[in-house]
Amino acid sequence: MREQLEALRDDAIEKIEQAQEKKVVQEIRVKYLGKKGPVTEVLRGMGKLSPEERPVIGQLANDVREAIGKAIESKMEALEQAEIHRKLQEETIDVTLPGRPILKGGAHPLTATITEVEDLFIGLGFSVAEGPQIETDYYNFEALNLPKDHPARDMQDSFYFTDELLLRTQTSPVQARTMEKYKGKGPIKIICPGKVFRRDDDDATHSHQFMQIEGLYVDHGVRMSDLKGVLQAFAKSFFGEERSIRLRPSFFPFTEPSVEVDVSCGICHGDGCRVCKQTGWIEILGAGMVHPRVLEMSGFNPNEYSGFAFGMGVERLAMLKYGIDDIRHFYTNDRRFLAQFKRV
Ligand code: DAH
Repeated sequence: MREQLEALRDDAIEKIEQAQEKKVVQEIRVKYLGKKGPVTEVLRGMGKLSPEERPVIGQLANDVREAIGKAIESKMEALEQAEIHRKLQEETIDVTLPGRPILKGGAHPLTATITEVEDLFIGLGFSVAEGPQIETDYYNFEALNLPKDHPARDMQDSFYFTDELLLRTQTSPVQARTMEKYKGKGPIKIICPGKVFRRDDDDATHSHQFMQIEGLYVDHGVRMSDLKGVLQAFAKSFFGEERSIRLRPSFFPFTEPSVEVDVSCGICHGDGCRVCKQTGWIEILGAGMVHPRVLEMSGFNPNEYSGFAFGMGVERLAMLKYGIDDIRHFYTNDRRFLAQFKRV
């Protein structure tokens, strides 16, 4: 019996040592130490032993169980350790490898320009309004004092869907739409950025699609000096504190009087150069006092209210500010061009 038990022990321990998986070790545990296992089996035959032998064999059987149990335990631990080690090896990060560069994008220069202008006017108490790009003839022209067959319509040749529906040629229709919403009661202080469309041939300074920002202020007693003050604040903030503006008489059907606004040339500071065509001034926008007819058509009493309006081209502003010489750069998405504006 003694030999039997010792053989069992050696056999089990050898198998445990050879085992490479926890599952196999578990099976050995069941096989050797389970209720139907060989050790139990041997112990069952104890009845046949002499009373002197019994405790000796009993003790040996316990020792064998214990030895097998210990071997299983330490093997399990070793396998566990090995598994952890393997996992760690597999998941090791080689911190000495150079990282992959993270390509950072940035706002498109037109978006950045609009955001800058918006921030400035919001600071002056304006809010941002928007209107549809597919516009009715009424809002795009008629409500702005441009009746059908008005010669000034020729300046803004458009893309028509029907006689009454077109791609808007300017952001000015948002003026009329907003005034209607206010139902004759001011104040209104809005700027309206957005896309506009014209039947133009594309070249370095023209595009059939571009962006404008419209401004409108309607209240009791709004005067031309208010317009000048606001535009001066805008020009200095956008182009630089040292720049100044001047107002030249002009014509727009929706304003009276109308002006064109120039900013002093940032290259020659007024002496005259190629950029300002030797005038010292560069045109940046159109503006004026809202025509009484326009106020009236949109539900405001011109005897009670007055207002100013202005409209500027976003591409033109960006081109002047950043020295861009071709409007088409904005739309062709050449990364070498766009990457220059990452921090704008
Ligand atoms: N809508 C004009 C254009 O596209 C720009 C403009 C001029 C807007 C004068 C105005 C304004 O609101 O008062 O040429």
